[in-house]
Amino acid sequence: MQQKNVLDLLSSKPSLQEVTICGWVRTFRSNRFIALNDGSTIKNLQCVIDFENFEDSILKKVSVGAALKVTGQLIKSKGQEQSVEIQVSKIEILGEANPEDLKLTILSPKHHTFEKLREQAHLRIRTKTFSAVMRTRSKLAFAIHEYFQKNDFNYMHSPIITGSDAEGAGELFRVSTLNPINPPLDENGNVNYKQDFFEKETNLTVSGQLEGETFALGLGKIYTFGPTFRAENSNTSRHLAEFWMIEPEVAFYDLDQNMDLAEDFIKYIINYALDNCKDDLEFLENRLLQEEKNKPETLRSDMALRNKLKFIIDNKFIRVSYTEAIEILKRSKPNQKKKFKYIIKEWGVDLQSEHERFLVEKHFKSPVILFDYPAAIKAFYMRLNEDGKTVRAMDVLFPGIGEIVGGSQREERYDVLKQKMKEMDIDEKELWWYLELRKFGTAIHSGFGLGFERLVQFVTGMGNIRDVIPYPRSPGSANF
Ligand code: 4AD
Ligand code: MG
Repeated sequence: MQQKNVLDLLSSKPSLQEVTICGWVRTFRSNRFIALNDGSTIKNLQCVIDFENFEDSILKKVSVGAALKVTGQLIKSKGQEQSVEIQVSKIEILGEANPEDLKLTILSPKHHTFEKLREQAHLRIRTKTFSAVMRTRSKLAFAIHEYFQKNDFNYMHSPIITGSDAEGAGELFRVSTLNPINPPLDENGNVNYKQDFFEKETNLTVSGQLEGETFALGLGKIYTFGPTFRAENSNTSRHLAEFWMIEPEVAFYDLDQNMDLAEDFIKYIINYALDNCKDDLEFLENRLLQEEKNKPETLRSDMALRNKLKFIIDNKFIRVSYTEAIEILKRSKPNQKKKFKYIIKEWGVDLQSEHERFLVEKHFKSPVILFDYPAAIKAFYMRLNEDGKTVRAMDVLFPGIGEIVGGSQREERYDVLKQKMKEMDIDEKELWWYLELRKFGTAIHSGFGLGFERLVQFVTGMGNIRDVIPYPRSPGSANF
């Protein structure tokens, strides 16, 4: 039988039978009350000891951070905070934590900034906030699989090492086993990748989409869920060099069906979190309220975390074309008064996150799906509209986050795709297989990518994306 954890015990009835529980000391008060946490829940189990019955040498080792095995009766608690507690009969010290050394770490009982926590990322899982975020992250991952499996999608493992640049943006991490100091050269003096491990240039994937499309045009409905790598030099609170992406791809879906899927999917996941992460979300909501107390009133959010999540579920995402959005932005106050960093002058410009956030947070006050973007600012694979200048792209924009989903209907017409690749300087030889897909039973199809960490950020209310992934990788930083 599996050993009981704190989560089990807190929902158990008092019993005469002894139980054993392992965990780490969160606090130890009055030589009497140990708050024990084992990671199964944000809550601690109170373990009460009669110090008269224990040797001083043992009690000394019951210090914050130490790992213990505790045995005793689960009794009705005399305190208000919890319904049950353990009346301890036996304590085993599994791992000590010297208070002098611990003082120098983020486990010491005082306020530590999230920046400081990142410097000790090996310990931060033992802090309340980070463990709440990571439990929620795990639940969200499960909900994602559940949603797709329930809806007859096949989980596809797209390759991590690829020979292509799916987004055509050139933000690639090279994969090579050549000696960087003295690489073999070809007759023109360039590095000769024919002598490399794969006998060609390869990189870490920026998206599993192109391979996903091949599977969708055989299995019908697929999704990927895996790590994605981008060497983009974006030092923001919403960008990582290594992040996880969920990419569904569906044969015979057009852009409208794609938007329906994205909306339904996101709502399901958020609803799942509200139902299954109650204690953690309550804690995270209170944390956020505390944090916002120190901010000027104008910067505080007008909704508490869980209300924000409910708001997403209860409201239809507003669908607006890029062209309409540009008109709204042009007429907007911050544009007229030159408050935007990038002033919107004309149709065709790419939207910055300040514009996306204005639309979502100020203008519509609702999640927004922007669609039909100018072809020139989007990737080569998106389906060209009849107007010849826009493509069937869509971005889902969220309050506080900006873009959370990017997707499109794919160009299924061989000639149009070939022409587009030429115009955008995409190597046809590299993507011969992707083009060939359009020769044998081509069909309209669509898909999108959801940035998993941006979703976790939204659900947990965390301000920085580096605090919702176990070991963040960003420019200049790949510690641990
Ligand atoms: O908009 P993106 O670049 O779209 C694609 O990669 C498509 N191939 C997806 C598809 O149609 N199958 O990325 C999709 C999402 C973004 O909306 C964002 O949420 C997230 O991935 N994302 C990042 N998240 C963290 N750090 C980064 N550097 C990210 N870049 C994109
Ligand atoms: Mg995008």
